[in-house]
Amino acid sequence: HRILVLHGPNLNMLGTREPGIYGATTLADIDARLRALAQQHGAALESFQSNHEGALVDRIQAALGEGVDFIVINPAAYTHTSVAIRDALAAVALPFIEVHLSNVHKREAFRHRSYFSDLAVGVIAGLGADGYDAAVRYALSH
Ligand code: DQA
Repeated sequence: HRILVLHGPNLNMLGTREPGIYGATTLADIDARLRALAQQHGAALESFQSNHEGALVDRIQAALGEGVDFIVINPAAYTHTSVAIRDALAAVALPFIEVHLSNVHKREAFRHRSYFSDLAVGVIAGLGADGYDAAVRYALSH
C-alpha cells in the first residue's frame, strides 16, 4: 500500500487554531501518528499540506505516477468551494476518504455542502484527529 494524506488550508495551524473546534493536536503529531500506523502495516504513507488550491491539484495529479493507491484528504475550506480539487480526484480516479476534524453538519450552513462527498469512498466528520486514523486503517485493509 502507498497512502497519500492531503491537508488543505489552515490545517498547518492545528493546535493553536480554534482549539475548541479543531482540538489541541498539531498537524505534525497527526502526521507522525499516521506514518507510524502505516509502517506497522508495512505500508508507505506520505503527508502533504498546502494553503494553495493549485498545489493540492498538482499533488493529486503527481500521485498517479507514484503508485499511490489510496488518498485520505481533509480539503478544509476547499471542501465547500473547490471544483478544481474535486476534478483532480476524479481525473486520477484513486479511491479517497474525506475527513473533517469537526462535525461540519452541526456548524454553519455553508459547511454542509461538500464538492467531494459524492465521489468519496466514505466521509468521516466530527471525530477529531481519530478520524484520520480510522481512514488510514480502512485504506490499509482495502
Ligand atoms: C474542516 C471543516 C471546514 O469547514 C473548515 O473550513 C476547515 C476544517 C474540518 O476538518 O473540520 O478548515 O475541514
